Amino acid sequence: MLGLRLLCWALFLGLARGCPEPCDCSQKYGFQIADCAYRDLEAVPPGFPANVTTLSLSVNRLPGLPQGAFGEVLLLQSLWLAHNEIRKVAVGALAPLGHLKSLDLSHNLISDFAWSDLHNLSALQLLKMDSNELSFIPRDAFRSLRALRSLQLNHNRLHTLAEGTFAPLTALSHLQINDNPFDCNCGLMWLKTWALATAVSIPEQDNVACISPHVLKGTPLSRLPPLPCSAPSVHLSHQPNQDGAELRPGFVLVLHCAVDGQPAPQLHWNIQTPGGTVEISSPNVGPDGRALPGAPAVPGGWPRFQAFANGSLLIPNFGKLEEGTYSCLATNELGSAKSSVNVALATMGEGGEDALGRRFHGKAVEGKGCYTVDNEVQPSGPEDNVVIIYFTLDGNPKAAVVGNRVAGQWCPGLILVLAQILLLLSTHF
Ligand SMILES: *[C@@H]1O[C@H](CO)[C@@H](O)[C@H](O)[C@H]1NC(C)=O
Ligand SMILES: *[C@@H]1O[C@H](CO)[C@@H](O)[C@H](O)[C@H]1NC(C)=O
Ligand SMILES: *[C@@H]1O[C@H](CO)[C@@H](O)[C@H](O)[C@H]1NC(C)=O
Repeated sequence: MLGLRLLCWALFLGLARGCPEPCDCSQKYGFQIADCAYRDLEAVPPGFPANVTTLSLSVNRLPGLPQGAFGEVLLLQSLWLAHNEIRKVAVGALAPLGHLKSLDLSHNLISDFAWSDLHNLSALQLLKMDSNELSFIPRDAFRSLRALRSLQLNHNRLHTLAEGTFAPLTALSHLQINDNPFDCNCGLMWLKTWALATAVSIPEQDNVACISPHVLKGTPLSRLPPLPCSAPSVHLSHQPNQDGAELRPGFVLVLHCAVDGQPAPQLHWNIQTPGGTVEISSPNVGPDGRALPGAPAVPGGWPRFQAFANGSLLIPNFGKLEEGTYSCLATNELGSAKSSVNVALATMGEGGEDALGRRFHGKAVEGKGCYTVDNEVQPSGPEDNVVIIYFTLDGNPKAAVVGNRVAGQWCPGLILVLAQILLLLSTHF
């Protein structure tokens, strides 16, 4: 059907070049105007003269804008597309229109929009996208729009906006963001602060309001009470870590990631072992240590790495295969924080190598476990802040732990890497 119509237009063009059949083309004040409004169109008709500067397709039934939709009219300065049924604007539909100054996409059904196309529209002064179904705007969507004066995003489905979204819009004087279902959480507090301080006119401030949380429903952003918000911080500790702990083969290593932050951060573990990298979104087990329902099946129902909701990571049967770097990453709306520990397992007489590539040997000094490092490597970053070396000392059932404060006393020749806690455990195997 559509193909037939296109064919008709193409034939028609052969006879009368200059304006698509359903449209009116005219010149006014040196502008070449193509008026295709109110025509029941379901596609952008072909056959425009290349010098069209203003194209109106308002009040039609366009369902979307495909790539290259305006390939014939690359000199467009004004494009009116309000009151259509557009759901999707494809990548490459708008990007070629580098001369565009005014774009009206309001009163459509757009939920899928090629934001990257805006990066090429650096001449744009007016952008109307109000009354659509936009639920997300990438942080860098407006990064090239240095000439934009008016931006209308009201009556959409925006729950949040990333901090700095409007920062590149240095020419902006008018911004409409009212009537969006904003989630008034820590991630949106910047908008209140920004809106109060900016010289940009933001009309209908009482309708720039929260839909959630429930207690704040209907509260204008400008009258929001201060919320307790803080970026995450983490502190990673480990057990066993005390003098006198006795380790046996297959002991349980416990790492604990103490997390602070408001709202409560999401915790994630990244474990790099010689066998590969394991990523875990915490928790992956219930309070009893069994895999959560819906998680990938594991033998016996007990995962090899058990990440508990309280921030603890249990590694039952810690062995050579579990050596490596353990990192916990906490993320909330305000940022993220990470801490890592390198864990290496040493056996008496054999020596070993830790995750930083340091070779070490175990030895006994005054009846206690100790080690020497062959090739000291500087830690590459703060994430390499802790190294634990488990050292098994034959014939000595008493475990010893050496913190870096006391290590020198036990092993005078030991070279310690700055800012590292080196732990030495000895045990009877
Ligand atoms: C656009 O091109 C047509 C011929 O294709 C010409 O008649 C018209 O004057 C041009 N309009 C402008 C504004 O230059
Ligand atoms: C961006 O616009 C320019 C004209 O200003 C055009 O030559 C170029 O092809 C456009 N880029 C893309 C990716 O369409
Ligand atoms: C977290 O929960 C696990 C399992 O209940 C427990 O073994 C561990 O000690 C807890 N960690 C802390 C810091 O309370």
